[in-house]
Amino acid sequence: MSKLILRALSGETLSTPPIWMMRQAGRYLPEYRATRAQAGDFLSLCYNSDLAAEVTLQPIRRYGFDAAILFADILLLPQALGADLWFETGEGPRLSTITTMAEVQALRSKDSIHETLAPIYETVRILAHELPQQTTLIGFAGAPWTVATYMIAGRGTKDQGPAHALKATDRAAFAALIDVITEATIDYLSMQVQAGAEVVKLFDSWAGSLKGQDFTDFAVKPTARIISALKAKHPGLPIIAFPREASAGYIGFAKATGADCVAIDNSVSPEWAAENVQSTGCVQGNLSPTHMVTGGQDLIDATRRVKAAFQGGPHIFNLGHGITPDADPENVALMVETVRQR
Ligand code: CP3
Repeated sequence: MSKLILRALSGETLSTPPIWMMRQAGRYLPEYRATRAQAGDFLSLCYNSDLAAEVTLQPIRRYGFDAAILFADILLLPQALGADLWFETGEGPRLSTITTMAEVQALRSKDSIHETLAPIYETVRILAHELPQQTTLIGFAGAPWTVATYMIAGRGTKDQGPAHALKATDRAAFAALIDVITEATIDYLSMQVQAGAEVVKLFDSWAGSLKGQDFTDFAVKPTARIISALKAKHPGLPIIAFPREASAGYIGFAKATGADCVAIDNSVSPEWAAENVQSTGCVQGNLSPTHMVTGGQDLIDATRRVKAAFQGGPHIFNLGHGITPDADPENVALMVETVRQR
């Protein structure tokens, strides 16, 4: 097993951490913007396997990242379950809303999602064939809570208010929706693995808004269920979990869910995460994406700080959240060079 990402995920401490970047295929890259224009729009790009594979490969060619992440979106699964999905330019995603048990029950069965998602599996197959042999292919899905927040509100929200409201007023419908997403996510990720994904990652972008018992019930438990089902089907499959802004909830998250690696956002310090999270296994993160906009000596210092904080254990270098469209591609090159300097 020579791929660096797989070595880190198996618990090995490496002198130079492997590196990739959330949203590494994205609008900050001129070649991404050109391919998206060729596809027509973002969703057409996701469902065009050849072009989706092309944009996945672009940051690998440019920076030689150690991992490629499948180009797709966490909201394709709700679409495959029957929700309407579209993207408002400059604003973000819009979906038809789910607010009642009847609407949860009217969703498509998990066995019929693959018809819609077939082009995504084809993208994975193309990538498994075309990636350089040292590059690890990561598949992904949203974690059930985060996906549910978009399905309930029909859009991104600052405080996930509509999802919290449904949880409070119709617990049965809310729990049923979480179950539907959980079961569909297992099958979706399993198909990605069968197509050639070597690692999968669960994005729980809004985990930080779940407190107390809710965090256990709707961030930890669905994640644990997905991981145990995937590991039963695919023994040895490494899984990264990202309960973003979980703060103290990061502690013990890997053990409670069975994740091989916990991705850490940049609202906690790397020193804190090294002491409290990396002490029990591999971590990924957590440079602030703002450095990709501002660059300079601050970027170099902050990159060295993250690398140094995590050098005593298994670590995959990454940002604490996705790179933003206003980032400068030169700053990404500077980060990669700084990480790989001995
Ligand atoms: O990381 C990668 O390069 C792989 C592809 C990927 C995308 N989205 C492509 C994308 C991944 C892993 C995601 C995950 C995703 N999608 C999350 C979880 C991670 C996170 O950022 O918290 C969420 C919440 C979504 C839902 C989503 N997709 C939103 C809210 C938006 C609009 C905000 C924005 O950044 O524009 C998207 C659009 C999206 N997904 C883009 C990309 C490259 C930009 C669309 C474009 O090209 O116009």
